[in-house]
Amino acid sequence: MPSDAVQYHMRNQVGFLLIDYPPVNVLGASVRAGLARSLETALADESVRVIVIACAGKTFSAGADIGEFDGAMAEPTLQSVFASIEASNKPIVAALHGMALGGGVELALACHYRVATADAKLGLPEITLGLIPGAGGTQRLPRVIGAAAALDMIVSGAPVDAAAALKLGLVDAVVDADLLLGAQRFCEQLIEQGAEPRPTGRRAVEARGFDAAGIALTLSKHSRALKGRTTQQLVVEALTAATQSDFYAGLAIERRIADRSIATTESRALRHLFFAERQVAKVPGVAMDSSKAPIARVAVIGAGTMGSGIATACADAGIAVTLIDSHAEGIERGLASIASNYESSVERGRLTHEEAARRRGRIVDSLDLGAAAEADVVIEAVFEDLALKQSILSKVASLTAASTLLASNTSTLSIAELSRACRDPQRVVGLHFFSPAHVMKLLEIVRAPTVDPAALGRALMLAKQLKKIGVVAGDAFGFIGNKMMLDGYWREAELLMLEGATPEQVDSAMETFGFAMGPARVNDLGGTDVGTKTRIELFKRETRPDPYFVIADALTAMNRLGQKTLAGFYRYRPGERQALPDDEVIGLIAKLAAGRGIAQRSLEASEIVERCLVQLINVGSQVLEARIAMRAADIDVVWVHGYGFPRHLGGPMFHADSLGLKHVLERIEYYGARMKNRNDYWRPAPLLQTLAQQDRSFADWDSERAA
Ligand code: COA
Repeated sequence: MPSDAVQYHMRNQVGFLLIDYPPVNVLGASVRAGLARSLETALADESVRVIVIACAGKTFSAGADIGEFDGAMAEPTLQSVFASIEASNKPIVAALHGMALGGGVELALACHYRVATADAKLGLPEITLGLIPGAGGTQRLPRVIGAAAALDMIVSGAPVDAAAALKLGLVDAVVDADLLLGAQRFCEQLIEQGAEPRPTGRRAVEARGFDAAGIALTLSKHSRALKGRTTQQLVVEALTAATQSDFYAGLAIERRIADRSIATTESRALRHLFFAERQVAKVPGVAMDSSKAPIARVAVIGAGTMGSGIATACADAGIAVTLIDSHAEGIERGLASIASNYESSVERGRLTHEEAARRRGRIVDSLDLGAAAEADVVIEAVFEDLALKQSILSKVASLTAASTLLASNTSTLSIAELSRACRDPQRVVGLHFFSPAHVMKLLEIVRAPTVDPAALGRALMLAKQLKKIGVVAGDAFGFIGNKMMLDGYWREAELLMLEGATPEQVDSAMETFGFAMGPARVNDLGGTDVGTKTRIELFKRETRPDPYFVIADALTAMNRLGQKTLAGFYRYRPGERQALPDDEVIGLIAKLAAGRGIAQRSLEASEIVERCLVQLINVGSQVLEARIAMRAADIDVVWVHGYGFPRHLGGPMFHADSLGLKHVLERIEYYGARMKNRNDYWRPAPLLQTLAQQDRSFADWDSERAA
């Protein structure tokens, strides 16, 4: 009896094995068992001459079940099912539509022929999970498209479309939109031609271009994405086996290398993020009401950099936008920057001229706040001034229907305070977009205690429509990301500079660790004045002991605002972005240190990295304990997507688990003792202390809360 996950039917001498396992036909245990059984049925059915394997629903298959990598794969394994398919004495055709990823492509490669609809995309994204294709992909793909092309495809992790797949020889034909009918016709041709099974394993490997020079060239092409990564070396090893060993020996080598890849911290980190990125949208007590109509119209108030970026993000997502500003010049500047962004997307070949025009056409402008009345969502994005934002929100609240979501784009202000002036604070959320708002994927959704869960659900829906990762954060200073950055990582980075590390040494240490950019360079890019303004707001409500960003604030006072004034932590030549060390800054830092009795010395990169990281983790623990973040995994998503934390290390909290919380605690205690717990910065967060003492991890903390 075929299982429910795979249905079998026969039509005109063609036996169809249809995988039906929503949402994305992952090749879990029930699918594998179903495939094995249905295959037996089709092979035993004498009226069947050719077999088709296809998938129901919106897509072919998203591959192996990533959740299964943590343990042993239940029988039958993918490898054994694929071996049975390949050994079939009747030709087997894979019929692909939508996405065929990872094990999905490996399944297709185990078949004898492949057809695809024009919309199909085929990819081996395992490298993005720190894995090598481990179900025959590294041995069969080079036999179909050649070893050099296989290396490129596996190392890039990116899918190719049906036309490119046809060119590569990865599919034999592109069929009409009706997949099963197209597959049927293809099979009828095979029957007519008397075609035999064509086992991929028996084909020879074309190794041209797969030599030291070719391999180095391909790896260097992807070097940016692979910074700090090791999986690509395992891919080369497995493909080398395909070129040097016979097929079965190659499969055995692939198996061993795949097991090694699964066990790496790199792969565990990347798999953790895969699930964490999808889990963030699941907020207890908050339903993303899919029966509600999607958000169709957004009003953005304030046409500055953030407002224009948010308007662009909405227009890109197909949402109609009204961009409102009280000044005509403000609107003009905003629209000009939107137009120039679209022009540059066209120039870079990312958008066609027509598509850019369509998107730009979704944005209309107005000088009148009343134009927000019909919007489903109103986002105010004026500058960080509490009174101004309050007055706008209160006016907009009285203009709009009670169902309209009201959002304030802020990185520092209290949403509770902002919404207090509003008639109905329950529909106000904070939306912390990251700059540039149309590019950065992260969106912190700030929840004040007064907010209605339905409003939060609407905000999560907006994030989804914008194709952003929305992470819900508590309403505390800095929310999740900026709190950890300002009170942990960057504050420590400044202290290290006062102790004698140069901005360049700090940046270089953190960039070598894997951050996209070090703190001083980020500061210069964003503008040192931005941070200073944030602190002015902060100090109205809270205090911080000295030294707290004394260097950045001194730079602001000297009008060294970063790249825009050609001087900040570094200096810049006009028109260039290269950060040049500046003795004036070194002198300034020495003076600030001397004024505080801080003796300067030379510091090792290892100390710089360790102190910045353990501070980041310690403040992360406080954020978690205070429920500013719901899960440690949410913090990881915020830091990877908003702050350039290296993805292959899984985020700060995953990294802490990898280091071991006992070790992290010991290092905090070590520095605390050495620095006499100056300013109380080295007091371990109680949660970190408890978890370390009980030999638990942040992952344990998350799963205990989910249970
Ligand atoms: N293993 C386990 N679960 C998977 C999965 C896989 N290979 N692929 C998708 N899922 C799950 C997701 O976790 C999600 O679960 P949830 O609804 O409980 O959160 C669900 O399937 C839908 O996936 P999602 O990514 O939200 O859907 P989408 O339509 O946006 O994207 C894909 C579909 C296939 C493009 C995307 O899921 C994807 O890239 N999957 C991974 C493919 C991959 O890397 N395969 C190689 C495995 S080694």
